[in-house]
Amino acid sequence: MEIKITKTTNPRVCPPENELGFGKIFSDHMFIMDYEEGKGWQDARIVPFGNLSLHPASTVLHYGAEIFEGLKAYRAEDGSVRLFRPMENIKRMNTSAERMCLPLLDEDDFLEALTVFVRLEEKWVPKSFGTSLYLRPFMFGNDEHLGVHGVKRATFMIIASPSGSYYAEGINPVKIMIESEDVRAVRGGTGFAKCGGNYAASTRAGERAAKKGYTQVLWLDGVERKYIEEVGAMNVMFKIDGKIVTPALTGSILPGITRKSCIEVLKNMGYEVEERLLSVDELVDSMKTGKLEEAWGCGTAAVVSPIGTLCYEDTEYTVNGGGIGEVTSKLYDTLTGIQWGKKEDTYGWVYKI
Ligand code: PLP
Ligand code: COI
Repeated sequence: MEIKITKTTNPRVCPPENELGFGKIFSDHMFIMDYEEGKGWQDARIVPFGNLSLHPASTVLHYGAEIFEGLKAYRAEDGSVRLFRPMENIKRMNTSAERMCLPLLDEDDFLEALTVFVRLEEKWVPKSFGTSLYLRPFMFGNDEHLGVHGVKRATFMIIASPSGSYYAEGINPVKIMIESEDVRAVRGGTGFAKCGGNYAASTRAGERAAKKGYTQVLWLDGVERKYIEEVGAMNVMFKIDGKIVTPALTGSILPGITRKSCIEVLKNMGYEVEERLLSVDELVDSMKTGKLEEAWGCGTAAVVSPIGTLCYEDTEYTVNGGGIGEVTSKLYDTLTGIQWGKKEDTYGWVYKI
């Protein structure tokens, strides 16, 4: 694929690494490519970062035809820059595109776009452990009329944001409220796809929980409000009675790349991992009887985020004394060790740029 590069005439400097936060600062450039039915993807280009101009009838503005991905470029101690399992993001983007009637991307072109873009933005990959250049590929439909149908025109972009921790708490345990009213997704819907609408619809519960002093919500399934699904915008795992339990991918859960990696690492460490339905009753019972040993969320942004408190129907339960559990910290150390090049990557997950 030919990528035309127009460099900025106004390069900026990255702010101090301890002031980055998450997703607030953007690098100098952005990648763009356009799609038109009959012509396919065309005009791949990297241009100075800036605003877009959209027709007011663009599909994305009315019917939410939008999907995205999230992955990071990490800087290892030897200075090299690497991605973590980028092919998994590329494949998931196409799964999301298929669900949302958006055009598929050629996998090799997508990987090339990421590679060329990250190379150009190398100075934006921060150096300290725990910081990274968060990459946000996204695609939206932009047909310029109001009929409801699969899109005939779309735009694919990649933007980049140098970032520190996702949660203000960092790796410290968070307080989570089990959400009994709103649901994030239903089977047959779009839960397994990474589409913008899922996040718009889940914001209300998150905001309500925040007002009550919780960092995020634990989602229950949309049919019976009975089974545990995800925590905020992360997958969730529990250590119950010595075994690791994580909700099975039933269609309403996003198949996280961190989740998949955690399962592999845990099995390698000798833990028994059960991917199955886990009811809120079983979870509450495990907290009452002391069988719940650890709970954590996992996702690209936060890597692993321990849960210190869970609230269900106005009763608060403390998990693992409110501290970081042994399995949680082993997972954090292993994954971040591989990502930031402190540990040998025996899995072949690292993709050097
Ligand atoms: N679940 C949801 C709803 C998410 O948005 C994410 C983050 O992308 C995840 C889970 C974790 O996925 P991954 O580990 O691929 O980042
Ligand atoms: C994750 O990477 O874990 C996320 O949930 C990203 C979020 C900003 C959508």
